[in-house]
Amino acid sequence: MKALILAGGMGTRLRPLTFSTPKPLLPLLDRPMVMHIIDSLPEEVDTVVLAVSYMKDQLESFFRQHDCGRRIVLVNEEEPLGTGGAIRNVRQHLDDTFFCFNGDIISSLDLRDLLAFHRRHGGIGTLSLWQVPDPSAFGVVGMDGERIIDFQEKPAPGTAISDLINAGVYVFQPELLDHIPSGVVSLERKVFPSILDRGLHGYRFQGYWVDCGTPESYLRAQSELLEHGRSMDRARKREAKVIGLNYLDRTDLNGCVIGPHVCALPGSSISEGSTVERSVLMEGAKVGRGCRVKDCLLGPGAQVADGEAVQGRVLAFLQP
Ligand code: GTP
Repeated sequence: MKALILAGGMGTRLRPLTFSTPKPLLPLLDRPMVMHIIDSLPEEVDTVVLAVSYMKDQLESFFRQHDCGRRIVLVNEEEPLGTGGAIRNVRQHLDDTFFCFNGDIISSLDLRDLLAFHRRHGGIGTLSLWQVPDPSAFGVVGMDGERIIDFQEKPAPGTAISDLINAGVYVFQPELLDHIPSGVVSLERKVFPSILDRGLHGYRFQGYWVDCGTPESYLRAQSELLEHGRSMDRARKREAKVIGLNYLDRTDLNGCVIGPHVCALPGSSISEGSTVERSVLMEGAKVGRGCRVKDCLLGPGAQVADGEAVQGRVLAFLQP
């Protein structure tokens, strides 16, 4: 069986990090975002097709260097074709029922169960659905039992047809390809509404779900993973205080207070008198002395200067 991962978006909302690293390769704790998806695939998936475009060379080089235990096929789009166009562009690889993923989803979804549900219900495809209190920022799905009967994109508050949103993980039949026109096409806006009569079902699940597309949701995904058993402490500490669940991998902590929900990757460091809370320090990121860092993404090599207080910021390494 094949799994298709849509991994060609520009990740504009995570700039400046995505100026130097494509979003699917940004680290979430111990591995790149896209590897959380690949590692969760059921055994029967032997081939992963990645629809790539933006920064494809970095993705190619990553998969050349890492054995994922499955055949990896990268298919490039010269110009990004949108989520629907990207699927059409890999059609030569899709000849049977396949999984399809937005490449920036972290969830507790049971993929075996999703596939069994799809096989039980038949039809052209099954969308995983996540329940939210306020769906106004999402693609909302209207249901009749298990069947999807309507779509609504980002409804104004109070006008949503349900509280179920498209969670960006699907199972499709190859017949889907007959319904994607050529060119730049949105799967969500253009294709889904046009195939309601082909049997589109919705699979609800519980646990956690995060679309890591924004700095805030990226940190939420990190927190979910930490709360679900992925914490680790391999920090080199000198009079440092560690609070709550964190992922600390060969980072240097000197006279600082860190946590909860901090990820600090190899080569990073935090100096005396600083506190760091709910943030990520990618490889080689440095927090100086007497800093306050909260809800921040520090890219590889990024620095917070002595005495600075930063909150809700995305910082990248600046060339001198
Ligand atoms: P933003 O620019 O911040 O909106 O991020 P994005 O470009 O990743 O867009 P979005 O989060 O809506 O995309 C959802 C998923 O679809 C991500 O995994 C993207 O990599 C992927 N994606 C979006 N557009 C394209 C495209 O044109 N081609 C391909 N191959 N993938 C895409």
